[in-house]
Amino acid sequence: MSTDKKTGIGVIGCGYWGPNLIRNFYQLSESAVVQVSDLDEKRLAHIKELYPSISTTTDYNELIRNPDVEAVVLATPVRLHAPMGLEALQAGKHLLIEKPMALNTAECRDLITAAKENDRILMVGHTFEYTSAVRKMKEMLDEGILGRLYYVNTQRLNLGLFRNDVNVIWDLSPHDFSILLYLLGGKTPNGVRATGAAHINPEVEDVATVTLDFDDDLIAFVQASWLDPKKVRQTTLVGSKKMLIYDDIEPTEKIWLYDRAVEGPAQYDTFAQFPYTYRYGDITIPRIGGTEPLRAEAQHFVHCIQSGETPLTDGYSGLRVCQILEATTASLKSGGARIELES
Ligand SMILES: NC(=O)c1ccc[n+]([C@@H]2O[C@H](COP(=O)([O-])OP(=O)(O)OC[C@H]3O[C@@H](n4cnc5c(N)ncnc54)[C@H](O)[C@@H]3O)[C@@H](O)[C@H]2O)c1
Repeated sequence: MSTDKKTGIGVIGCGYWGPNLIRNFYQLSESAVVQVSDLDEKRLAHIKELYPSISTTTDYNELIRNPDVEAVVLATPVRLHAPMGLEALQAGKHLLIEKPMALNTAECRDLITAAKENDRILMVGHTFEYTSAVRKMKEMLDEGILGRLYYVNTQRLNLGLFRNDVNVIWDLSPHDFSILLYLLGGKTPNGVRATGAAHINPEVEDVATVTLDFDDDLIAFVQASWLDPKKVRQTTLVGSKKMLIYDDIEPTEKIWLYDRAVEGPAQYDTFAQFPYTYRYGDITIPRIGGTEPLRAEAQHFVHCIQSGETPLTDGYSGLRVCQILEATTASLKSGGARIELES
């Protein structure tokens, strides 16, 4: 299609997250939000008040059949991602699905196949891959500034928002898994272990830690909680040359690069003789650009539709994250056992 025309967007689901997607697609000069669907009339009335030009419907099928809707954006509960997504793709619509892509890897594969068969763009809302800070970290890793990566520690903690349909790992950790896979440029874990506990709803874990083992002794600890007094969004990367802390709560100084490392001599006879030396150098804070990540994500989706380019966070990216999520569920069920993955 030509790029001088606005791409018509339909958004299904305008609960907590949907309105952010609607706002960004509405504000882009390359797209127009044509229609929005939700079962809840009050949510639709709220959207209508903000954007009188957008038509609303409680019947998502009407949106999928709307000829002016070229692309469907799904911000519904996870169990609806695959069924609604398949309907949209089969109706010839491009598709952006919020994370996590689906309830299991079989559903992810079905969506990938449907997108191929119908020659449509399929993208997953791994929003953090569109943040300037995460892109800066990738640049630093690729330039070898940190040296060999030893370990990664991520914390995504807050009080709520509790969900009944998926546990805290499926809700919060897709962000950290997608960030990790992006930073590691194609490396995937060879094993996954998960421990957690359910305190408020006995069926749904509300605190959890996932351990991801990668080749070359790289290990990542991913902690998620809906039961924490303080909102924490922190990622620590420790390398052989330097260390880094990314704090997404910080408004501007999001990345702190520490010129710190532990060093040993090139040669030694026994570990008893091993003289550790610790380097305490400067801390630097790189300047990070300030574009809203969701705007960058929305713009990328429309660009891919208009150019035919494959999205950075395509169906396979959603599938890789879902493979890890599925392994965490298997591990939780078997008391934290290591689940092997093909790396
Ligand atoms: N990328 C991010 O940073 C981010 C942040 C928050 C949530 N999310 C994701 O967005 C998705 C939605 O999360 P949320 O927090 O907005 O959930 P929510 O429960 O607040 O909203 C879901 C909405 O879908 C509507 N809905 C349910 N069934 C429907 C149907 N048949 N037809 C039309 N509408 C229907 C509900 O009425 C509700 O308003 C989830 O996948 C979540 O993981 C992503």
